[in-house]
Amino acid sequence: MTTELKQGLTFDDVLIEPRRSRVRSRKEVDTSSQFSRHINLNIPIVSANMETVTEAEMAIAVARHGGLGVIHRFMTIEEEMEQVSRVKRSENLVIEHPYTISPRRSLGEARQLMENRGITSLLVTTEDGSLAGILTHRDILFLEEDSQLVSELMTPAAKLITAPVGVTLEEAKQLFLKHKVEKFPIVDGKGRLLGLITIADILKRTRYPLSTKDAKGRLRVAAAVGVRGDYLDRADALAASGVDALVVDVAHGHSDQAIGAAQQIRKKLGDIELVVGNVATARAVRDLVELDVDAIKVGIGPGSICVTRVVTGSGVPQFSAIQECAREAKKHGVPIIADGGIRSSGDLTKAIAAGAGSAMLGNMLAGTEESPGVMVIRGGLRHKVCWGSASFRAQWAGQRSSAQDPEEAAEVVPEGVEAVVPYKGLVSEVLQQLVGGLRSGISYAGGTNIKELQENASFIQITQAGLNESQTHDVELIK
Ligand code: XMP
Repeated sequence: MTTELKQGLTFDDVLIEPRRSRVRSRKEVDTSSQFSRHINLNIPIVSANMETVTEAEMAIAVARHGGLGVIHRFMTIEEEMEQVSRVKRSENLVIEHPYTISPRRSLGEARQLMENRGITSLLVTTEDGSLAGILTHRDILFLEEDSQLVSELMTPAAKLITAPVGVTLEEAKQLFLKHKVEKFPIVDGKGRLLGLITIADILKRTRYPLSTKDAKGRLRVAAAVGVRGDYLDRADALAASGVDALVVDVAHGHSDQAIGAAQQIRKKLGDIELVVGNVATARAVRDLVELDVDAIKVGIGPGSICVTRVVTGSGVPQFSAIQECAREAKKHGVPIIADGGIRSSGDLTKAIAAGAGSAMLGNMLAGTEESPGVMVIRGGLRHKVCWGSASFRAQWAGQRSSAQDPEEAAEVVPEGVEAVVPYKGLVSEVLQQLVGGLRSGISYAGGTNIKELQENASFIQITQAGLNESQTHDVELIK
């Protein structure tokens, strides 16, 4: 046992000292930052890899606004791959492998495929990959005879306007202006289908100028893997489906098992962008940077649904954990992700000022329209269900095969809880408030961008009286 007693502070224990500001309007403040060594963000916000927070819909919404989503791992490998490819397909200029169907399939099968994939049209191709036509939802609206063949309902290839290989954004816009059609299959000289370009994607590009994109113009997405069982196959499969970063997700990231898993993934997948967590000390950061990781996730027990500190007595208050880890990680050029405990734009600003490249949000996004959580009504108001990745529910469901055995149930020691959070509307509304607050926070601290915030911020430790003063007081709030 060491006799040194360290002090640990969290967001409510500190404030950032205001400094002279050059900023005239919040809009002038630049919030771009780094998620990992090779992935930049326009806003430093990452959605948590939790079952009730991030699947494709959330990842798309967050990436469109300049952040990044991490798809959770509590599903089969195939399902997680599908979530990743939904994001990658959501708004690329060219969809390289559009969903297709054979002309010999039935209307019923086509409908099923459209529903499963969440799409409104299918390209029809023959066995050798030649374009035979297109089947859109308009072609099949009100049709009741499910056994009709796709070939009888589709618009045949001869009537379609196609785009050439290598079409540019400008050329695609011109095609639209000329022909007023919304989808252009891309075919080679032999009529073989090589991709699809849609006007919806072009519109999204202009609507979300800050979105987090890869070199091909597709939205970026990360996905979580564990450290046991099928984790290597999962990592391999996710890399094959085009994931931009893998997040090795384990409660205690400073463990031989997590280190071993990260080593195996690095060995198998070479230069894949690799994030490992969670940790909370400089010593852990030193061990992880040796594995050539691209980012480190920091947070042991600060999360809204976490009971790790209560159950294990272990953890580090989040503000101190971020400061200590960021200081060490900076020496090695590795960004850190502050994960958990953020309840406001003020907390977000403190986390970034303390040195994090980005902050991961669970609770703040769990109540939004785009989260996979189920909606429930409590006290007449809408809420969404949210649970911890180490809650009884998550651990029990993860052992489905033995789920009927009460003795095994008794062995589960949950480190998370099940809860509800108030419904908050669209992700875009939550992010707008968060980023607006961050921009103001950067300017209060005398900066115009995140680098300046981190270089200049000085913190004051406050008392409980100071915290009381910081919050609304002596008024009755009108809800
Ligand atoms: P917030 O506060 O944003 O935190 O909701 C989200 C983070 O909490 C972590 N997490 C857990 N921690 N037991 C824990 O100790 C759990 O069951 C659990 N589930 C999630 C995780 O790091 C997440 O991003």
